Amino acid sequence: MNNSPLKISFIIAGISILLFWGFTSLLNTNISFVYYSILFVLILCSAFLLIKKYIQKKINLLYRTIHTQKILNEPIYDLNKVEKEVKQWVKEKQIEIEHLKDTEKFRREFIGNVSHELKTPIFNIQGYVLTLLEGALEDEQINRKYLQRTQKSVERMITIVEDLSNISNMESSPETLKTKKFDIVSCTLSVLESLEYKAKKSDITLRFDKEYDPIFVEANESKISQVFVNLVNNSIVYGRDNGVTKIKIFDLETEVLIEVSDNGIGIEEEDISRLCERFYRVDSARSIDKGGTGLGLSIVKHIIESHQQTFNIRSTVGVGSTFSFTLQKY
Ligand SMILES: Nc1ncnc2c1ncn2[C@@H]1O[C@H](COP(=O)(O)OP(=O)(O)OP(=O)(O)O)[C@@H](O)[C@H]1O
Ligand SMILES: [Mg+2]
Repeated sequence: MNNSPLKISFIIAGISILLFWGFTSLLNTNISFVYYSILFVLILCSAFLLIKKYIQKKINLLYRTIHTQKILNEPIYDLNKVEKEVKQWVKEKQIEIEHLKDTEKFRREFIGNVSHELKTPIFNIQGYVLTLLEGALEDEQINRKYLQRTQKSVERMITIVEDLSNISNMESSPETLKTKKFDIVSCTLSVLESLEYKAKKSDITLRFDKEYDPIFVEANESKISQVFVNLVNNSIVYGRDNGVTKIKIFDLETEVLIEVSDNGIGIEEEDISRLCERFYRVDSARSIDKGGTGLGLSIVKHIIESHQQTFNIRSTVGVGSTFSFTLQKY
């Protein structure tokens, strides 16, 4: 009854009757109890109807702003309920605003990072081209060297743009992930083969920990190859001379667990949780030196999560790192 129109109507009717009784007593008019009762009921009903109508009008106005439905299913007169709903609405809006603020901050940082990453190769190209135009083109000693450096900067820009378009494609059309049955063992072998030359140049040995029979999984093969390329490539780039990169596959009940381990430089604990952020590099100077943009692991995480699987990183500085992910068994 708390705050209900009926309670308020009772109070109004009670006060009115009291006033009326006082007034009639002053005039010395004798009115029977039945008359008072009828009057009380009449005032009660009228007050109740008027208050209900007034509240309903106000609530409708309020609900128009906080509800998405056009019509209310049932009239609401309980002000406690309304208060609760409005509080809930305010809470939801606050969460939404926080989320929008975060997204906006992330977007600003992202644009800043992209322009920062592109600036270096663009300025390099500009510098080399200008020097060539100003006479270096005729200098046999340096013209070829400068053109090769220009080519390197162009390649870097292409890598950055390709990585960015990869991420935006994955984010804009996550539903287009097409999966099929394939053998994860042969997929791994072909990635290892494709990176063998690069590994040899860096004195890194790539291998499986043992001989595997075919293991079939349900996933998007080209995206999983991309995951392997990124992880194995990192193990080569951040490995040490005569290092070893090992791939292990654990056959679990409904999933397979795949591990890419190296005995490279390792990663500090406080950096591990940030590795999958876009453009995050542990040692920016050293990573850029190695051609890194800091997008590889964020793409890996994105791909694995789009398969509704998990990606995990374990590492100890000076000992090495292990990157693992699961896939659905076929
Ligand atoms: N196997 C590893 N051992 C040690 N550090 C690693 C390893 N893999 C990644 N890192 C660290 O994590 C950072 C992020 O890796 P990520 O692959 O996302 O970017 P990147 O290699 O710098 O650039 P790219 O976008 O070209 O892959 C790297 O800069 C490097 O510092
Ligand atoms: Mg990388």
